Amino acid sequence: MINAGSMPETGLGYKTEEVKFRHSRVNGLVFLPYMTEQRIDDLAKFQTRPEDVFIVSYPKSGTTWLAQIIREIAKPAMPEGVSEEQIIGGTVPFFESVNPAHLEGYPSPRYICTHLPYAMMPRDSQHKVKYLFVARNPRDVAVSFFHWMRVLDKIDWDGSWDEYIGYFINGNVPYGSYFDHILGWWEHKEDEHLLFMKYEDMKKDLLSHVKKIAGFIGQNLSSQEAERVAEACSFSSMKADPKTNYDRYRDKIYKKGSTFSFMRKGVVGDWKNYFSDEQLAEFDKLYASRLEGTGIDFEFLS
Ligand code: PPS
Repeated sequence: MINAGSMPETGLGYKTEEVKFRHSRVNGLVFLPYMTEQRIDDLAKFQTRPEDVFIVSYPKSGTTWLAQIIREIAKPAMPEGVSEEQIIGGTVPFFESVNPAHLEGYPSPRYICTHLPYAMMPRDSQHKVKYLFVARNPRDVAVSFFHWMRVLDKIDWDGSWDEYIGYFINGNVPYGSYFDHILGWWEHKEDEHLLFMKYEDMKKDLLSHVKKIAGFIGQNLSSQEAERVAEACSFSSMKADPKTNYDRYRDKIYKKGSTFSFMRKGVVGDWKNYFSDEQLAEFDKLYASRLEGTGIDFEFLS
């Protein structure tokens, strides 16, 4: 969800009694302010190429991690004459924040990050392009999302966890309900062009995921190379590296003076430090009502 330099200035959003951070609402879903109806429509009409690979997740579920794995494996290129600084995400741009015309200049295969629900993906892409999808347990997603929302300058919100968890449970967060989003993608998990992964599994065994991802995008990696990629994509490596820790976007995205680190904790189980017993009971009831019987399940502790 990183979006600065190329972030459109149109659509400053609004606050309501129900949702007290600046947002927009398109097709019933809450979005960050810059996501106007026009923009959603433009993205839906985006001309894909059969070689395109979309890196997809609900926000705060591991998009940036997957993008880095792709950079290390595939070494994607930028259009000639364009620098990494000009397009957020650089070689693996963020779909919602980049001008679609810029993407024309990228050589194939293009690797593009997005948080869009399945139904909002480019209409002509459904059975041609590849999707790498990563899901994360919703308790940790909620905590990570809470911290993110508090530092985003453009939404102008510094509410409490108690306020935020209400938004999350009711689907009043950018990209709407976590459960609707994940179920929309899970429905397509058997498609051969979709690789469905879980953050918690990646934490347990990154190396095997690196190999799986490489195979999925048709790249041959030696064991030595796979180990190098896994090492470069560990949380500690990414947090320490200015090219991957996103600190360079700080002034463009965060509130003035924020010391927030995008590479915040990168763990499974931080939810324990936030949920009250009552909140957990309500959350788990919702989790069971939406996910039980679907085949999706998560580990909540490492
Ligand atoms: S965003 O803004 O929606 O695109 O965020 P996203 O990249 O999807 O998710 C951010 C969280 O992923 C964590 N992260 C990692 N965890 C483990 N290993 C690695 N290498 C890694 N890279 C990013 C990041 O720290 C955010 O989670 P929290 O819980 O906030 O730390």
